Amino acid sequence: MFKKLDVLWGWLVRVLTNPWPDSAGFMRVRGRLYALAAESVGKNFQVASDVRIARLRHLVVGNDVYIGPNCVLLINERTTIEDEVMLAHKIMLTTSNHGKENGSYRFGKGKSAPITLKRGCWIGAHCVVLPGVVVGQGTAVGANSVVNRSLPEHCVAAGAPAVVKVRDADRRQEKDGE
Ligand SMILES: CC(C)(COP(=O)(O)OP(=O)(O)OC[C@H]1O[C@@H](n2cnc3c(N)ncnc32)[C@H](O)[C@@H]1OP(=O)(O)O)[C@@H](O)C(=O)NCCC(=O)NCCS
Repeated sequence: MFKKLDVLWGWLVRVLTNPWPDSAGFMRVRGRLYALAAESVGKNFQVASDVRIARLRHLVVGNDVYIGPNCVLLINERTTIEDEVMLAHKIMLTTSNHGKENGSYRFGKGKSAPITLKRGCWIGAHCVVLPGVVVGQGTAVGANSVVNRSLPEHCVAAGAPAVVKVRDADRRQEKDGE
């Protein structure tokens, strides 16, 4: 029932729970409420205030996921957020682009692709993650980045567009060489 009404349910949860403080217990209850209309959600899903999730039915969430304040998930394709992923403040995930028809984007047929955030990655504040992107396990994306291509695992990536700045393995080698 809730999945069929996912847009309405997402709006209702946001509006009714918005005044709650961003402490773990309250965020966990909010996560449980969102979960009622999501495809699947694991344990300890914490959602901060003022998060907008456009189509909850496309959301697949693992265990111990955190979504920070003011994030926007404009998702009309499956969006998978694996275990222990953290989204900082004001992040936008969008699974679709508008298409052009008769010289205008207004009514053009859109194109969508799923997003996957692999286990333990961390998306910094104010990032935008675009359709079709996979962010690798244990990767950190720098604040204010635009992720338009998939990123490998265990690295720091940043910029617009986001590119790999440093790999964990190279950092370890540098340390060993000191
Ligand atoms: C991504 C981040 C974690 C990297 O930190 P770090 O591991 O200490 O890495 P460094 O600072 O050594 O940066 C590595 C390279 O990436 C670049 N870089 C790091 N963050 C960047 C960003 N946001 N935009 C552009 N470039 C960035 C650095 O300039 C450096 O490049 P260089 O080697 O050419 O000089 C950090 O910069 C960041 O953006 N954190 C987000 C914080 C946040 O959003 N917090 C919200 C609360 S959860």
